[in-house]
Amino acid sequence: MKPLSTPEQILAAMTYAEKLAQLQIVWRPDSTEAGALARNGAGALFWPATAKATNALQRTAVEESPHGIPLLIGLDVVHGQFTIFPTPLAQAASFDTEVAAADARLSAREARSTGVNWTFSPMIDVSRDPRWGRVVEGFGEDPYLNAVFGEAKIRGYQGDDLSSSTSIAACAKHFVGYSAAEGGRDYNSTDISVQRLRNIYLEPFKVAVTAGVASVMASFNAVSGVPMHANREMLTDVLKNEWGHNGIVVADAGGVGELVEHGVAANASDAGRLALSAGLDVEMGGSLLSGNEPIIREGVLDPARLDDAVLRVLRLKQALGLFENPYVDESAAATGPDEASLSAARATAARCTVLLKNHAAVLPLKPRGQRVLVVGPYAESKDHLGAWVQYFASPTTTSIVESLTAALPGSVVTALPSATFFDSDPGLQAEAAAAAAEADLVIVAVGEPSTLSGEASSRSSLNLPGDQEELIRAIAGSGTPFAVVLLTGRPLVVSEWIDQCPALLVAWHLGTEAGKAISDVLTGTVNPGGKLPMSFPRSVGQVPIYYNHESTGRPARTGGSLAHQRPDVGLTGPTNTDDYFKSKYLDLELGPQFGFGYGLSYTSFELESSPDQALSVALDGLRAGTRLCFTTIVRNTGTRDGDEVVQLYVSDLLASVTRPVRQLRGFHRVFVPAGEERRVTLTVGFDDLGFWTNDAHAGYIVEPGEFRIRVGDGLSFQEFRLTVTPPSS
Ligand code: BGC
Repeated sequence: MKPLSTPEQILAAMTYAEKLAQLQIVWRPDSTEAGALARNGAGALFWPATAKATNALQRTAVEESPHGIPLLIGLDVVHGQFTIFPTPLAQAASFDTEVAAADARLSAREARSTGVNWTFSPMIDVSRDPRWGRVVEGFGEDPYLNAVFGEAKIRGYQGDDLSSSTSIAACAKHFVGYSAAEGGRDYNSTDISVQRLRNIYLEPFKVAVTAGVASVMASFNAVSGVPMHANREMLTDVLKNEWGHNGIVVADAGGVGELVEHGVAANASDAGRLALSAGLDVEMGGSLLSGNEPIIREGVLDPARLDDAVLRVLRLKQALGLFENPYVDESAAATGPDEASLSAARATAARCTVLLKNHAAVLPLKPRGQRVLVVGPYAESKDHLGAWVQYFASPTTTSIVESLTAALPGSVVTALPSATFFDSDPGLQAEAAAAAAEADLVIVAVGEPSTLSGEASSRSSLNLPGDQEELIRAIAGSGTPFAVVLLTGRPLVVSEWIDQCPALLVAWHLGTEAGKAISDVLTGTVNPGGKLPMSFPRSVGQVPIYYNHESTGRPARTGGSLAHQRPDVGLTGPTNTDDYFKSKYLDLELGPQFGFGYGLSYTSFELESSPDQALSVALDGLRAGTRLCFTTIVRNTGTRDGDEVVQLYVSDLLASVTRPVRQLRGFHRVFVPAGEERRVTLTVGFDDLGFWTNDAHAGYIVEPGEFRIRVGDGLSFQEFRLTVTPPSS
């Protein structure tokens, strides 16, 4: 057998055009085009939908292309390829990174078995604007949550060894600031301060690079006027040089060509030159070659940069073991879920639900002897897969009403046909209200269909679409107890019906086993323990609204109301005892409807925390790795077993720049049997107390002084003062 060449040896034998061919993943070519591309030495292709077709393309690449280089085969396996897990936003609500890891491990196993070796996931864009449809693809409004969930996904996809038959290369996206699109309108401009860029948007990516992510995707937006596909400062100086990312930087689809639309490149050739020179390694969509002719003249690109990009691609192929084994075992290729994957999908899905309200213990449903009516578009709909799935995804197996019927044989469960997500039908509403009056309990299953979130799916309203809010009010009018199950890809505004609604369970889009998982929670087989990863606003006018906002000079104590008019004190203004000139809306209460970290349970908990040591630490000790421990006793004071999420937040009380009012720096979801207690220890170290200054050279610093540490369940906290003393020497 011919000895395998090293990436360096292959590179040395390549022509300029052959090098450019390696630097592209061609946008969804048809099978004839794909074959020709593989023969011509293209670096990467999108998955051709079967293991057999993938093997055929690999064979063409290995046996017929100039240097026999195998292909990267890419596919967005975002929350499952066949077995669909909850959407990433839902996963974040579990506050359990094992949920994300389980999804990623199974995704990698399914995908690699079919020939996919590269996924464009996880998305770790910190998302503070629920109008932006892509909030569903990430882990919510907090940088720490995005960082730890992103890391769990990356480790799950990549495993310990990329060449394993159960590993695929991950891609952290979108680098960087894409979620800051103004007005929440997808692809819109962003304007991001250095503070937020470093402390909010970059943080999860830095963690992803430390976790060894194989690739990073450039985002569609500009940062400080420089589109990311041409942003040398971010792609090369920060990502590659400062952080040491030695994997690939891939473009987003068409992102290189869009440099022309952005008005920074004259044409496709110019765009390619700008992008590659800035540090981009692989183009997605568009083309660096016209036929076999390079669109960028030889000599224009720095040869060392070009070689660096090609080497990154070849080294990833080497790490994936593709040179040794480019093919997959077609007979072992996944084509759908198996029992084990369905059971993992069901268990993780139930962990993502968030109970926001449960007056008079409407939930869980009584085990028998009830007349349960299920209404709303989600009563029978199986649209639970979420935004980022493809046609080969395994459909949701059972609807909510089917699952409840199976789970409650001792009760009578009925569904009423209701209007679709968008239609209005007062007749159907009246019918639902009349049927509700005859029932013991009503489940109102409402929400957004999957297509209302995801890419290019921004909304200007955050209300339920169609006449679903009227339906909730009509059921409330019947006087029968009811619970709303809300299925959504984003936080919604619930203020127009929440006061009339006794119970509210947020069930996102939970994937293939959604119906069963929701039924598990409604019947109490599973006790909900998730918390919100993004604030639910009272009104779209509050957006963006997020818990970790910077301190303002005029925080308000009370919410505004139109009745609270400016005191009539003439031009001299009101007295300082008044809360008038404060940061608030005149026509809205303060704060979100339901805040970040909030979520209830069918049982009740008491938390009691104590620090394990004196709350003073020297800066040099911190720098050397000292961590302060906060131990919490979680007591389950109710009659059901359940999960609580202990959350730890840090506030820097005096700093040289305005810091967030509080920041999540640790959490742990713990199971506590009824009547028992468990100890949870969370720690705080150097990385949790500092921030990036406005001076890039100063880097990340911790300033000595006072900090407040809060430990609690998301609603009530115990507070500790921590003093960081100046270095002893
Ligand atoms: C999206 C990316 C995705 C890519 C490939 C683009 O439109 O922005 O997130 O990975 O398509 O499917």
